[in-house]
Amino acid sequence: MSFITSSALQATGYVTLDRYDQAADPAEWLDLEYVGWRSSGITRFAPLASYAGDIECNGFWNHTPPRTDKDGVWIPSQVEKAPNLARRAQEPGANVGRCRVIELQPNTYADAIYNLHQDDNNRMNEEGDGWVVRAWFNLTDDPDSLLILREDRFDPSTEVRLPLPAGSRIIVDTQRFWHAVWHRGPSPRYSLITSWTSGPELDAYIEANHGEQHPQTVALDPQIIDAAQVEMHRRIEERRKAFEAQGIVMEPPADLYS
Ligand SMILES: [Fe+2]
Repeated sequence: MSFITSSALQATGYVTLDRYDQAADPAEWLDLEYVGWRSSGITRFAPLASYAGDIECNGFWNHTPPRTDKDGVWIPSQVEKAPNLARRAQEPGANVGRCRVIELQPNTYADAIYNLHQDDNNRMNEEGDGWVVRAWFNLTDDPDSLLILREDRFDPSTEVRLPLPAGSRIIVDTQRFWHAVWHRGPSPRYSLITSWTSGPELDAYIEANHGEQHPQTVALDPQIIDAAQVEMHRRIEERRKAFEAQGIVMEPPADLYS
């Protein structure tokens, strides 16, 4: 027995879809209610679907009773403000877990590398059921910003960089890939993030939107990469020492973010 996964994600673990015509929709994300929630960088989140329909962002497994990242409950006050976003999250017909808009302030490549983390979407998921993956729909036009994916957290040779213009759509197995966004700014970046359960509905959606399993990765100056590697290790060590001084064993990033 194993999980149901998408064949479209088999080759690389991520897939890009045709760009959505974002300019045709109103900027609904600006009307939503946001809450502070720690993720990769300086962020706030506006949940559209949560554990019980409240405006909060905690993992479904951190509630009582705990459950995996499925069967998110839509939040009427938020859906009312962002009908297009709610429609788009439900378009595949796949089960939706957490669904929220992330607001990310500008950062640096080194920040993004330090913030790399894996999600924990499949905690409590049971074999035989669909594997939970994540979709990113970029809402603002950030063609110079990049979604960074690494198979190996510390190995830049495993890095993929995908640009984030308005309407870009990327689906990633975020429990497999270390990921973070390098947002060059100058304004905050907004993106709709949805947890979808793999299965025939998601497969059909990816196919209908011409899923690309080998999208082009953006090149980056090796010197910038090397400097960021040094900075990442410096910050990790700095954090480890700070925790150690308090007698705390540092938790893995997957527990801090997701
Ligand atoms: Fe994540």
